Amino acid sequence: MAKRHLITCALPYANGPVHIGHLAGCFLPSDIYNRYLRMQGKEVLFICGTDEHGVPITLKAKKENKTPQQVVDENYSVISAGLKNFGIHFDTFSRTTNTLHHETAQAFFKTLYDKGVFIEEVTEQLYDAEANQFLADRYIVGTCPNCSYESAYGDQCESCGRTSSPQELINAKSALTGNTPVLKETKNWYLPLDSIQSEFLDKWVASKKDNWKSNVYGQCNSWLQEGLKPRAMTRDLDWGVNVPVEGADGKVMYVWFDAPIGYITATKEAAGEDWTKWWKDSNTEMTHFLGKDNIVFHTVIFPAMLHAHGAYNLPTNVPANEFLNLEGDKISTSRNHAIWLHEYLTDLPGKTDELRYALTSILPESKDADFTWVDYQARVNNELVAILGNFVNRVIVLTHNYYDGKVPSGTLHSALPDVTGKINDALSNFNQRSGLEAFMEIARNGNKYLQDTEPWKLIKDEANAQTVADCLFTCIQIVKEIGNYAQIFLPVTSDKLLNILNINSYDDAITEGHKINKPVLLFEKIEDELIKVQREKLQKAKEINAKSAASPTEEKTEIPIKPMIQYDDFTKLDIRVATITAAEKIKKADRLLHITLDIGSETREVVSGIAEHYAPEDIIGKQVTYLANLAPRTLKKIESTGMILMEEDTDGKLKFVAPSEATAAGSIVA
Ligand code: 2FM
Ligand code: ZN
Repeated sequence: MAKRHLITCALPYANGPVHIGHLAGCFLPSDIYNRYLRMQGKEVLFICGTDEHGVPITLKAKKENKTPQQVVDENYSVISAGLKNFGIHFDTFSRTTNTLHHETAQAFFKTLYDKGVFIEEVTEQLYDAEANQFLADRYIVGTCPNCSYESAYGDQCESCGRTSSPQELINAKSALTGNTPVLKETKNWYLPLDSIQSEFLDKWVASKKDNWKSNVYGQCNSWLQEGLKPRAMTRDLDWGVNVPVEGADGKVMYVWFDAPIGYITATKEAAGEDWTKWWKDSNTEMTHFLGKDNIVFHTVIFPAMLHAHGAYNLPTNVPANEFLNLEGDKISTSRNHAIWLHEYLTDLPGKTDELRYALTSILPESKDADFTWVDYQARVNNELVAILGNFVNRVIVLTHNYYDGKVPSGTLHSALPDVTGKINDALSNFNQRSGLEAFMEIARNGNKYLQDTEPWKLIKDEANAQTVADCLFTCIQIVKEIGNYAQIFLPVTSDKLLNILNINSYDDAITEGHKINKPVLLFEKIEDELIKVQREKLQKAKEINAKSAASPTEEKTEIPIKPMIQYDDFTKLDIRVATITAAEKIKKADRLLHITLDIGSETREVVSGIAEHYAPEDIIGKQVTYLANLAPRTLKKIESTGMILMEEDTDGKLKFVAPSEATAAGSIVA
């Protein structure tokens, strides 16, 4: 029996509109896959929606003096309209604030609760007594222990980018009242990812080794290798899905618990009572499309939830993409370094296929990619205009010139390469860039054939009449093939071609005597001026951002170079090579390790926020770089002296800065 396909696309946060990074990360890939499978006649359900809970939305609401509901309502409209305009049509574009979603997420939670899956744990969390509220990490501000930036958030410093825990901040204050938070006990419900890992995840993920993309499998595997820990699935917040168990008043579900359940909700909305076949029938394949920052949630946490629940299918594949950069720089919402869908639609009206094409050509399928306006211009002008548009135009014009727009009686030239196999092979394996290249080959081959045959020369001699007719008959079939596959990549163009060819569907045959319509322009050349305006727009945003660089933001940003210092300032730092001689976890501090260092002349004790990146037993004996004369501070009752220097990669993973070869402990770094 043919498989049916449930395609999910990561639910965008409704704390802002969507940009080209979202398009390239998951909207376009999922849309292409959806269109491809439907073209194969497969039974498909394609779902998405907005992720409307979580702290960033409450912060945004507070900042804009709105309710969280107002914020998500506004963004839902902008996001859904933008996607529709780009031809991305979901069977349902749901919302996690819908009542059905709250009911669905609560029922899911309750099942896990009733099965005894959760661990209930009381921990001390920071609490604002005046606001009568526990404080999410984002609601805590203080001085960064790393760079001394005074408005660092509890989970991340916007100045140096370092991730930390609220307890590590110096002089931490509540962002709600400015008061110093106090520690207060609170109960939360934890998903025992450690035991689910050993009982299920390790084996399940290993079974995906040959099927999942290597970037996805690799990232997921590295999480597993580090060893999972129980993770709280509830939060002390008032914006989210209420936790439906006794003793959970004032608590909501962790946003990453309820968000993926949004896929189930959306399915219910789309399929009604029939929804179960999409989630419970083993004949359904589920494919999650998402960007790389979401990999762990879809390959580890959601599968762990589904497994613990027991009644649902697990994903077959998670073809996540890497990140898209813009003009050599990370896309950033807070710095407004982005091309927003709704702005593109206004600035470049009628050019959605052009952006779809330019983005599909560079999809970050296996590594980060960079979108530049110059590349966009080149792809549109040199490929869409010069190859595809030019070919179609010539064929249609010649047919009108020679045959008054009626398809001549001809034989199909059979020597043209068939790219169908290539397209199928690429798209069924999530190689969408190659799929697009194969699609363009149809037009390239057509162009070459037309150019080599030169009907405009042959037509001059009556003896060549049949050759000319064969050529144009063949070229019209090629145009039809282009239109057919354009349904996957370039939906607007596909519709235009349907119209030009004067057929109702690409299943219709085009035979002798069929009248085709006059040509319409498929793509316009992109002028330099337009590119200049768009580049200036990005530049302007950069300048505005540079002026207000001091304001804290809600996402990780590219870190600006700090102000110049003098050599004398640098010489004040005493940096040395040190060797880790002991390391252990610190109770009730998930992110901290207590590390003992040999620095040659003496032994030092350091508390370091790397517990989520390194297991203590794995780092003993490692050589590190150590700032030896940073004044001591007390963290978790341990006096921590100096600091181990870490580098943070683009995935937020911390790594030691180590000497390139074994060096005596205490060696000076200068
Ligand atoms: O990263 C994001 O934008 C998340 N809102 C994605 C959620 S995907 C799913 F689990 F809902
Ligand atoms: Zn900092």
